[in-house]
Parts: sequence; structure tokens; C-alpha cells
Amino acid sequence: MAVETLTITRPDDWHLHLRDDAMLAAVLPATAEIFGRAMVMPNLKVPVTTARAAADYRARIHKATPPGSNFKPLMTCYLTESLDPADLAAGYRDGLFSAAKYYPAGATTNSAAGVTGMRRIYRLLDLLQSIGMPILIHGEVVDKDVDVFDREAVFIERVLGPLRLDLPALKIVFEHVTTAEGVDFVESASGPTAATITPHHLMINRNAMFDGGLRPHAYCLPVLKRERHRRALRAAATSGNPRFFIGTDSAPHLRNLKEHDCGCAGIFNAPTALGCYAQVFDEENRLENLEGFTSHHGPAFYSLPVNESRVVLTRAVDVQCPQELSTSMGTVRVFLPPGGMSWRARLLI
Ligand code: NCD
Ligand code: ZN
Repeated sequence: MAVETLTITRPDDWHLHLRDDAMLAAVLPATAEIFGRAMVMPNLKVPVTTARAAADYRARIHKATPPGSNFKPLMTCYLTESLDPADLAAGYRDGLFSAAKYYPAGATTNSAAGVTGMRRIYRLLDLLQSIGMPILIHGEVVDKDVDVFDREAVFIERVLGPLRLDLPALKIVFEHVTTAEGVDFVESASGPTAATITPHHLMINRNAMFDGGLRPHAYCLPVLKRERHRRALRAAATSGNPRFFIGTDSAPHLRNLKEHDCGCAGIFNAPTALGCYAQVFDEENRLENLEGFTSHHGPAFYSLPVNESRVVLTRAVDVQCPQELSTSMGTVRVFLPPGGMSWRARLLI
């Protein structure tokens, strides 16, 4: 008989946007309810580029955490060309920063202060390598003459491939990988290399953006790709290869800013993400590999212990989940699988 319930080690989310202020207060409970830890992205309106800013942001996250929750935010430092290396190293040594985040300037939401060329920060990368601090890379070129669907593949060729060879011991996470080329790179790269995969890139392809009309809520970056890429991602995620692990890239934007002349990139999936991953592994007949992907591979890469508590997943017919989250500033659309949800998650306490 098919598995109906599954108890797994409590997962972590290795790529999450929590935002700030009212949005933070509105979105944090969905993550804290299920995930033990989350790697919190630093792309606030004023990016988190100093240990001081990270400490302040972490305090605001703690304040917004529901009472009784032991959710732990892990902070990241937004790399810029003018960053103070001593502050970065001290922040990592003191356990304030867990990783550094690389945004190519102009690649995505709040990335204007990002880096204009990987080589311009090689000195910082040398430092990261020598202190063992991981770098989380948004892997897309931003050249106007490169087709938006090719940005990841071209980044691998021009930037990531050479970087991997130049800094062989640097711990690299290729964030939200979206292509077959990305999967191939991660599988065959030398040195400590891993990748996160989002639930939406596993569940929908680029047709979802044009399904009967323009669908802004299916727009994220890196943009959804062709079906053959989705298939490659599903094979990689469910394979049991420890180089691939969970990272939801849950990225809330208000509805009116997505349904807009120039709509924001980002899909908010925190309330449904774990159920979506379970559904994908179930559909691929690989439920036995789910716990590795959600709860073991990430901690192993970051040399952290796995969480102590556990989460129960239950298969059900047509799991109900609110389509929208209210905030004091407006609503945020929640990502739901196109054919309905078939797994629900609950933290065991
Ligand atoms: C993210 C956001 O809104 O901050 N958007 C997205 O489409 N994924 C930024 C990012 O991770 O690229
Ligand atoms: Zn992101």
C-alpha cells in the first residue's frame, strides 16, 4: 500500500526571504511553524552588509518569532565591492554570519548594490575560502544581450566554472538552480559544491507564466524554464545526491506590486513548501529520499547538527490551504501546486 504518513527530521530552509517590519511579522509564522532554521537572505531595501546590520535584523526576526517557537534564523552578508573584509571575517567568527550572498548587480529584487563582476571581489573570495565561510551564489549574468532564459547557463560558462577552478576549496552553493546545465555542473564540479532547488521550479515550467494570459504570480528569478529543465531538477532533487538540498526561495511581494506594469519577481511559498516537496518526491516514487533532501544534506554541507524535533507528513485528498496571506499593507498570494495539494505537514512537539 502507498505510504500515507511519513515522519522525518525537522527540515531547514536554506534560502528564504523574510523581508522586514509588517511583512516580516506576517510571513515569519509560516516558516517558524515547520522549519528549524532558515538561511535568511540579506536583500532588504537597505542590504545587510555589516555584522551590526545583521545583528539588528536578527533581533527584529527574534521579536517577530511566535512565542514558544525555537526557530533559528541564520544570517547572511550581502557581498559588495566596498565591503569591509575584517567586519565580514569577524561576523563569521562570532557566529553572526553563516554565509555570504553573491548577487550580480541588477540580477533580481534589491540587487542594485550587488557585484558588477566576480573578479572584482576575488580578494574577498580568497578570504571566504581561507576562513571556510560558504558563498551562496545567485547564478545569472545580467547582460542585456543574453536571453533571459539563458542567463543561468551563460553564468556557468563565464563565471561559475572558472571560479570553481580558481578557488578549489571555496564552499559554493549554487542557489535556486533552474536548468539541466546547472544540475550537470553541480553533479560534476570538483570541491565543496551544492545547490538548492525551489518547490516551484520542481512543480511548474515556463508555460505557467502564460497560462491563458499573463500570470504575474508565476514570475520569479531565475525565471521558470522549459519542461526538460524541470525534469532534470526533479531527477536531481529526488536522486539522494547530497549536493542537492531544500531552499524554498519563498519571496513575498504584495499582490498589487506583482500585478503591476513592472511586476516584482518572487513567489511566496512558505506555507505550502514542505507539502509541495513531499508531493514531488511522492510523484517520482522517491519518498525514501525526501528526508535527506529536506533535513540532512543541508546540515551536512554546513557542518551543522540536524534538528532534534520531527515533522509528520500526511497524504490527504485535496489539502486545503489559504490562497492568500493578509498583512497590514495588503495581501500576498500563496503558491499552490496547479493540480492541488496532496500532502500536509505538522511539527511534532
Ligand atoms: C527574490 C526576492 O524577491 O527577493 N525574488 C525571486 O524572484 N526569487 C530575489 C531572488 O532570490 O532572486
Ligand atoms: Zn531568493
